[in-house]
Amino acid sequence: MPEDVAESLSARADALEARMIDELARVMPARSVLYISGESDPRAPLNHEANGRRFLMGHDPRLAKMPDRPALVDFFRLRMNPGQQHLLQSARHARLAGCDEKIVLACLLHDISVVGFIRCDHGYWGEQLVAPYVDEEISWAIGAHQVVRFFPDPDFGYEYPDLYVKFFGSDFQPEPYVVRAYEQIRKHRWYGTARLIAVHDLYAFDADVRVELDEFIDVIERNFRQPEEGLGFDDSPAAHMWRTMNWPTRFL
Ligand SMILES: [Fe+2]
Ligand SMILES: [Fe+2]
Repeated sequence: MPEDVAESLSARADALEARMIDELARVMPARSVLYISGESDPRAPLNHEANGRRFLMGHDPRLAKMPDRPALVDFFRLRMNPGQQHLLQSARHARLAGCDEKIVLACLLHDISVVGFIRCDHGYWGEQLVAPYVDEEISWAIGAHQVVRFFPDPDFGYEYPDLYVKFFGSDFQPEPYVVRAYEQIRKHRWYGTARLIAVHDLYAFDADVRVELDEFIDVIERNFRQPEEGLGFDDSPAAHMWRTMNWPTRFL
């Protein structure tokens, strides 16, 4: 890189940092109980001492700014953690196996909640996030995959994942609500779709493989109904969840 370009880039970074510090001196970002529960006891008194500052009610200057009308790809690029490689690898695995595009998209989105929103009950959160924008079969299967993964199905060549034994211990038992949900899911007409997510999920944790989102832009365009107003601003039943990802530290 030529020296003058490097210099102007570093000057721009300095200016950005100065603006950020300046803004944080004026407004205080909030931390939801959910984010700090466990790290601290939620019953402990909250430190809401703003020291003369106002509370942040919009964009957090510490984060990359989202476009005014954010698309799904903007959330992938600006709000999701590197765990999204798991989604991309999973989608590639499904595509190479010759799956229908619907399944490829389901794999691409199946853990969207884990990598960008909330982990606990990630399938159900993910289902609600995408439900207004995808075929009902896809969103249903995303909800169901979190349950299906705990149960083997030889018809699909699916065994209980070794990784789960490593992650949760060999004595781990799914909660009764998960067992009950599986009984229902097993009888559902879209059971196979949920099961396919689990099948392609298994092989998608390779640290040496890097898959780019560009590989799936066409699948997204054809199968994800991107709202014109942007995700979070279309008044859909999931809009508040996308806004929360956009502005995770808004006071209210
Ligand atoms: Fe999952
Ligand atoms: Fe997964």
